[in-house]
Amino acid sequence: MHKETKAITNLILKAAKMARQETSDTPEPEHTKPIQWPLHCTVGPGLEGAIACESRIGYVNGSKGWLIYRGYDIFNLCAYSTFEEVCYLLMHGSLPTAPQLEAFKNKLINYRFLNATLRLLMGFQVEKMNAMAALRLGTNLMRQEFTFMDQEEGRPTTIDAIGSDEDSIPMETIPKGEKQAIYEFKWPRQHKKSRVTQLLEEACGIEACYHLISGVATITAAITRVRQGHMPIEPDPKLSHAANFLYMITGRRPTPVEERIMDIALILHADHGMNASTFAAMVVASTLSDIYFSVGAGIAALNGPLHGGANEQVIHTLNEIGDIDSVKAWVERASAGKRKIAGFGHRVYKAYDPRARILGPLAKFLIKGKKEIEPLFRIAQELEKEVISRFGAKKKIFPNVDFFSGIVYSCLGIAPEMFTPIFAVSRVSGWTARVLEYLQNNRIFRPRAMYVGEFNKKFVPLNQRNRTIN
Ligand code: CMC
Repeated sequence: MHKETKAITNLILKAAKMARQETSDTPEPEHTKPIQWPLHCTVGPGLEGAIACESRIGYVNGSKGWLIYRGYDIFNLCAYSTFEEVCYLLMHGSLPTAPQLEAFKNKLINYRFLNATLRLLMGFQVEKMNAMAALRLGTNLMRQEFTFMDQEEGRPTTIDAIGSDEDSIPMETIPKGEKQAIYEFKWPRQHKKSRVTQLLEEACGIEACYHLISGVATITAAITRVRQGHMPIEPDPKLSHAANFLYMITGRRPTPVEERIMDIALILHADHGMNASTFAAMVVASTLSDIYFSVGAGIAALNGPLHGGANEQVIHTLNEIGDIDSVKAWVERASAGKRKIAGFGHRVYKAYDPRARILGPLAKFLIKGKKEIEPLFRIAQELEKEVISRFGAKKKIFPNVDFFSGIVYSCLGIAPEMFTPIFAVSRVSGWTARVLEYLQNNRIFRPRAMYVGEFNKKFVPLNQRNRTIN
């Protein structure tokens, strides 16, 4: 192991030791037992406290500050495993054997190559789009390219498809009374089926999940490149998922430290219970829509500043505060204005978020020599102290995963608008794993609202309405 990556492992083990000292080993019985329907639970606004299903994928103990994937503690997974292993674990329920891991990695590598999707995506003004909107679009294009699920007659032959092959030009014939426009390639060429196409033809749900886990990374990297005025970079099959992702962003093979840091960040964000984006993905899947639409819904939900969008907001907050001396007054103003401070608080955690326990020390480790980012890190440390002393004991508000992740990504040279897409690069594994699990015992999600409106109102024709009538 590289000396500096060993130092990173030691930081994680130290954070784990501290977490174990501060928390005890008892799961919450009310959240860790089989459900007997109908279930009685106390539900608050925003479905707080509602139990929607059983799951074996992951567990968040909010009062203790633990995070568990398939029985494994997050600290151990970060210290000893890789993102690929964690994806396999989430999807399949157990850590892979060496041959299983090899086969899984090869699948992910095959699915990294999204040439046709990227060609389609480049037809849009990606550089002018919101990065999460571009990612959602890219994910949708992956679906259109590969699944053809909603075409009655199945996958069209290459010759019939409106494509973007470099040797063919889609032409619309001059209508001669046809009811529909006819499209044809000027120089139709018979293609051999690519390996990826073959795999996707064999695709059941799980292949589409692998496709998405790889593809979301390729699309995010391509969006980063285009926004910087560069072309997307072809994936490198020799690199790990994390290293290849960084390589596709920067055009430079990452150092072992950079690779390890990105790998840990991806592991940390992979799954987190029934969070808003996972729930959104599951709601869509529960209608028997497909996994690409589900992931699109997950991306849309993740975008908001109360959820994944908070990581970008944190950097804006630190810039807004400006210097260490202004922290106290800034927090006072935020508190007086009832402003939520990005990167703090959580619906489930009422203790220090274990992911922040890891990301904080990683940010500190990386910051050395990063003159441009160091002042922001110092402000972040001061802000953390101030918020915890004000709200920690009283309101159980502590840093969450988004508080330090932006500083970590900044140290890797990544721009703030790409922080939330990177969250999606990881969380796509949790979304897909949970969707697959839920579909095994699917029931459409369909809660109700309490109607508190009026009844028996008399209909007033338009020409008789005036401003006083609602
Ligand atoms: N800053 C200041 N006060 C806060 C914060 C915060 N970040 N979060 C919660 N509070 C206060 C809130 O004002 C309320 O106080 P009071 O009882 O006096 O009215 C109390 O804590 C409970 O807050 P809540 O709004 O009922 O909590 P919630 O469970 O509905 O919201 C949250 C959870 C994460 C949306 C919220 O804490 C928040 O907006 N945080 C900032 C945004 C953020 O960092 N989001 C990332 C969440 S973690 C990772 C992820 O999901 O992406």
